[in-house]
Amino acid sequence: MILCKTVRALQKEIKKVKGTNKTIGLVPTMGALHAGHASLIEAANKENDIVVVSVFVNPTQFGPNEDLDSYPRTLEADCILAEKMGANIVFAPTPSEMYPSRDMTWVEVSGDITKVLCGATRPIHFRGVTTIVAKLFNLTQPERAYFGQKDAQQVQVLTRMVKDLFFQLELRIMPIIREEDGLAKSSRNTYLSKKEHKAGLILYKSLRKAEQLFISGQRDAEKIVEETIQIIQSEPLADIDYVKMYAMPELTPIDGPMKGRNLLALAVKFGKTRLIDNTILEVK
Ligand code: PAF
Repeated sequence: MILCKTVRALQKEIKKVKGTNKTIGLVPTMGALHAGHASLIEAANKENDIVVVSVFVNPTQFGPNEDLDSYPRTLEADCILAEKMGANIVFAPTPSEMYPSRDMTWVEVSGDITKVLCGATRPIHFRGVTTIVAKLFNLTQPERAYFGQKDAQQVQVLTRMVKDLFFQLELRIMPIIREEDGLAKSSRNTYLSKKEHKAGLILYKSLRKAEQLFISGQRDAEKIVEETIQIIQSEPLADIDYVKMYAMPELTPIDGPMKGRNLLALAVKFGKTRLIDNTILEVK
């Protein structure tokens, strides 16, 4: 496996591959790799000849009071896991490699899709995500790029960016990977105390209850959201940022009974750690 720390080194490797008819799968990450990332790398390895994993804690997607400085950085362990899962190249640049000049070009998806849910409390977050992912797409020119469904809003925003900017690649969205106890895998789970981790299980429990309500015929989005909130509020350590349901793909308000695909998404704080989770409720 090759470790590239500069844009130039990566471009050199990509040029070699592009001269052949080999396909490239890209797995963008911020490192601190866990089983969720491992599942993305594994899928990329099955479906492509060459797998590139980027490891970059992207400063532009963090707000001023967020965890940019304390975000876990574990490059050595990340390289070991990436190689084990079949990565050929790990791209781990510095911030000045990715953002070399003071005059910056932003890639931004506008509309409800970036304003609701996480966008409401993290106003610059998705602009940072789309900007860095567009740079990574241009640098690696992948046939396929892999993201996890846990970041459901990110997936919708990136889908829109790919469509609007005519990126010639397929977005492959992989299912949420959970701990045995149901907590969705996240690099931020390492911040949780044992007590907070246990309290966090309420998220999985509330989403399963919402799914049951839906399966038993409930089509009133507000009622499902209310019930989900009530369950989460039964956990004293849970501090709700949002629990909302929107119509997919544009994350627009649900008017009348639910139709098509709907995203029930939540963000809840346990101590200083903010966890997100979601489920898709589809009326067939
Ligand atoms: O999902 C993440 O880890 C990040 O948002 C991403 C896509 C790697 C961009 O920095």
